[in-house]
Amino acid sequence: MLKIRNITVQYNKKDKPAVEDFSLNIKQGEICCLVGESGSGKTSVVRAVQGNLPGQGCVSQGDILFEGQSLLNYTENEWRKIRGTEISMIFQDSGAMMNPIRTIGSQFVEYIRAHGVYTKRQAWVKGVQMLKSVRLPDGEQIMNSYPFQLSGGMKQRVGIAFAMFFQPKLLLADEPTSALDVTTQAQIVRQMMKLREDYGTSIIMITHNLALAAYMCDHIVVMKDGKIADSGDRNHILHNSQAEYTKELLSAVPSLGGGYYV
Ligand SMILES: Nc1ncnc2c1ncn2[C@@H]1O[C@H](COP(=O)(O)OP(=O)(O)OP(=O)(O)O)[C@@H](O)[C@H]1O
Ligand SMILES: [Mg+2]
Repeated sequence: MLKIRNITVQYNKKDKPAVEDFSLNIKQGEICCLVGESGSGKTSVVRAVQGNLPGQGCVSQGDILFEGQSLLNYTENEWRKIRGTEISMIFQDSGAMMNPIRTIGSQFVEYIRAHGVYTKRQAWVKGVQMLKSVRLPDGEQIMNSYPFQLSGGMKQRVGIAFAMFFQPKLLLADEPTSALDVTTQAQIVRQMMKLREDYGTSIIMITHNLALAAYMCDHIVVMKDGKIADSGDRNHILHNSQAEYTKELLSAVPSLGGGYYV
């Protein structure tokens, strides 16, 4: 469903590209994790897929095909139709994406009605239900709050509720749970996996947490300096990889009784 073909991402023509010769194929219902050190280009890859590179960022070479169509040729209008419904993204810091002077409820209702046929009341009820499913039990109160009245983890869960609302075909998640406590993290991860089970959602997940990657993913891509250092199915990467950098990453994972925690 998604084919990333040898892309180069550049923020500035003079500088070294942020991502070079990156390729990845994802089938329907597949979960792929991108791991690698800070600055290795993970966010740049998913933002390129989402047509949302900041500043002067652009895909200067290669192509990105979503269900056979090049996303690089999409107009802003075409993007507006599929962003949120077919391809949606959970950001590392969801709070930053919210309007600080409007309540969560007014933003959520507007978002739901922009993409689906609902009355205001229906959108409100659906929004509250969705908040409950991301462990925000008092959905009504959250809907009536302004972003500044919520904790970082609560805002993150609101962002996750937005991104999952329309059961997208492709979910891009940039460290979605690193701001959350482990119980909530586990709940959200299970919910992402349920989205895959119920609706065949494909997921690209960025994480620093190899244990999480091991738990969730079918496929793992290890990035370093803007390039793919290693790539393969989960078991291969965790148990048989010969790549030096992967071995280094794995050796940093605590081990117990000779077995990695992963
Ligand atoms: N808006 C931007 N303008 C210019 N350069 C950028 C911009 N965003 C990222 N870069 C550069 O692109 C490279 C890759 O950054 P990217 O954010 O994709 O890394 P990352 O793997 O997501 O790192 P982290 O784990 O810290 O989030 C870095 O060298 C960074 O300096
Ligand atoms: Mg990043």
